[in-house]
Amino acid sequence: MDKIVIEGGKPLKGEVQVSGAKNAALPILAAALLAPGESIMRNVPDLQDVRTFTALLRFLGARTSVEGSVVHIDASTVNRPEAPYELVKQMRASVLVLGPLLARFGKAKVSLPGGCAIGARPINLHLKGLEAMGARISLERGYVIAEADRLKGAEINFDISTHTGTENLMMAATLAKGRTVLINAAREPEVEELARILNKMGARISGAGTNIIEIEGTDDLEPFDHAIMADRIEAGTFLVAGCLPGSDIIVKGCLPEHLGSVISKLGQSGVDVEPTARGIRVRGTERPEPVDITTAPYPGFPTDMQAQFMVLMCLSSGQSLITETVFENRFMHVSELQRMGADISVRGRSAIIRGQERLCGAQVMATDLRASASLVLAGLAAENTTEVLRVYHIDRGYERIEEKLGKLGCRVKRVAGSA
Ligand code: EPZ
Repeated sequence: MDKIVIEGGKPLKGEVQVSGAKNAALPILAAALLAPGESIMRNVPDLQDVRTFTALLRFLGARTSVEGSVVHIDASTVNRPEAPYELVKQMRASVLVLGPLLARFGKAKVSLPGGCAIGARPINLHLKGLEAMGARISLERGYVIAEADRLKGAEINFDISTHTGTENLMMAATLAKGRTVLINAAREPEVEELARILNKMGARISGAGTNIIEIEGTDDLEPFDHAIMADRIEAGTFLVAGCLPGSDIIVKGCLPEHLGSVISKLGQSGVDVEPTARGIRVRGTERPEPVDITTAPYPGFPTDMQAQFMVLMCLSSGQSLITETVFENRFMHVSELQRMGADISVRGRSAIIRGQERLCGAQVMATDLRASASLVLAGLAAENTTEVLRVYHIDRGYERIEEKLGKLGCRVKRVAGSA
């Protein structure tokens, strides 16, 4: 397993181009299943999760090919509507094939994803919505078996805002008979991006980006050709990196409005963050002010930025409170940051951070995607050397992060095949 070795304390300078959004690419790969023919997806990031998803599409019988950041998917040959455990356990977003397979083929067998490091992450709301649309759902030996002669439009009221739940049901509703209304729908920009592409395919969706989405079902859809949006979480991660003392970088490609809550909180901490014609410019500060955050569904502060923001608060001039409301176990970076000298105490879903003047480099262990990103950020800020082990976690969501950081002047290298 690779590790990343970081010599900390060096200011970041220059510009970094953000890759395509992982959390847009995955549902859009699933959307290709809705139409026979070849869809083309552009600006696709080269990530492990994308490679796993294309492997799943091939398992279903689709043909895929990758040329750089362009992925071709021909879903004409899909002949096995089944997502096996060995693929789903690698990437829970595989559950996104459930809605499209059921809508187009009238049946689907998808492994339950099981829990993951950050929480139980059930899919009960996905299944409840499909049942409301007339699907017959049964659970057998860890698999969801779903069948429907033809899904029918329904009014679905989500008990809680679910990002991929909204996406799964929006895709299923495109080929249902009649109108579907999703109430308390997720408002993330990736949901809006998916709706844009489904409408390009011939779907009739309105309201995406608000918490009420309406879908008029249609009989068939056409393949799409689309360049996907930039990754706002990768962009936010680099914005935090640019907060380090003496740094001055421009993060290119991401729309500032997709990071409104993050930019606002960084500004409150005294960091100079401003949208420019070239991208979002951030200039570091010697010592950030303490700022409290509470994670929430979009447009609230994103849970996927919680670990990264915590690193900044570890270096603040006072005490801050971070409350994680979306997932029940998303503080696993805390114990690793404590090993680097951070003063953090966890009380249930909240963490109290007492800012320090410095962090000290150490060997630390990545546990999940965003926690590992926060450990890299901590290594950039810390004195001496930090080694982040098990960086396969990071490779799931960040495209060659050590190359991008190296171009910003960081002393970062990847060491292959260590413990
Ligand atoms: C998506 O996960 C993202 N993944 C996550 O990004 C992100 O952290 C999360 O949304 C929140 O924004 C993708 O888009 C591929 P949810 P998702 O359904 O859809 C509960 C990353 O780092 N819930 O919005 O799985 C759930 O347990 C990843 O890129 C149910 O109870 O998240 C959680 O507490 C991590 N029942 C809350 O809702 C359900 O049926 C929000 O989960 C569905 C969800």
